Amino acid sequence: MKYFLDSAKIDEIREAYDTFGIDGVTTNPNHIMNSGKPFYTVIAELAEFVKEKGIEGWETFPISVEINPHLDNADDMVEMGTKIAAMSKSFVIKIPCTEAGIAAARRLEEKGVRTNLTLVFSASQALIAAKNSSLFVSPFLGWKENSGEDCAQYIQDIVTIYENYGYIGETQIICAAVRNGKQIVDCAVAGADIVTAGLQVYKDSFYHAFTDYGLKKFQSAWDKTITE
Ligand code: E4P
Repeated sequence: MKYFLDSAKIDEIREAYDTFGIDGVTTNPNHIMNSGKPFYTVIAELAEFVKEKGIEGWETFPISVEINPHLDNADDMVEMGTKIAAMSKSFVIKIPCTEAGIAAARRLEEKGVRTNLTLVFSASQALIAAKNSSLFVSPFLGWKENSGEDCAQYIQDIVTIYENYGYIGETQIICAAVRNGKQIVDCAVAGADIVTAGLQVYKDSFYHAFTDYGLKKFQSAWDKTITE
């Protein structure tokens, strides 16, 4: 399963790439706002990052960039998506899963611009995304779980539907708004392609107190042993 970093902060992206070997990045208007920089400055930095690392391309290191969320018709969405996509081969255009968004995503895919349908909260939305050949679909977990919904079954249903109709590999499932290690494991057990989460979620899910305990124990044994 691939790990994407959900962030628009270049220092976090560098750290996550160097430490955990993340496979891609997802951004959204909230993350861009939190970077404190103008939209086009941030995405130019992201475009530069993949060039510098020699990983540019949606196949090698996809970066989802969300269009202006105020756009409400497919023509405007296609126009902005085309402009952003021209800035980097890594850019995948993130579009809300609305009726206009589905139409825009299909038109962008037809002209070779890869898309990520976001704000997906039901398996039936995820099915439409795949029918329209989006590269990625982003079902959100954290928001649903906060309101008491069962997310393990939600992701399992999407994976099963994609298996039933041959969408696996065509439309990749990015489990989004992932908040903890339990959700990461649920996504992996269900067979989802990708999780996207903030850096601290990956750090917390990776940490185990017994690893530190064991390291200290072995250091102590090492210190009491003659090496040669
Ligand atoms: C996913 O692609 C979204 O950017 C993201 O997960 C949104 O949710 P959050 O900001 O609440 O984590």
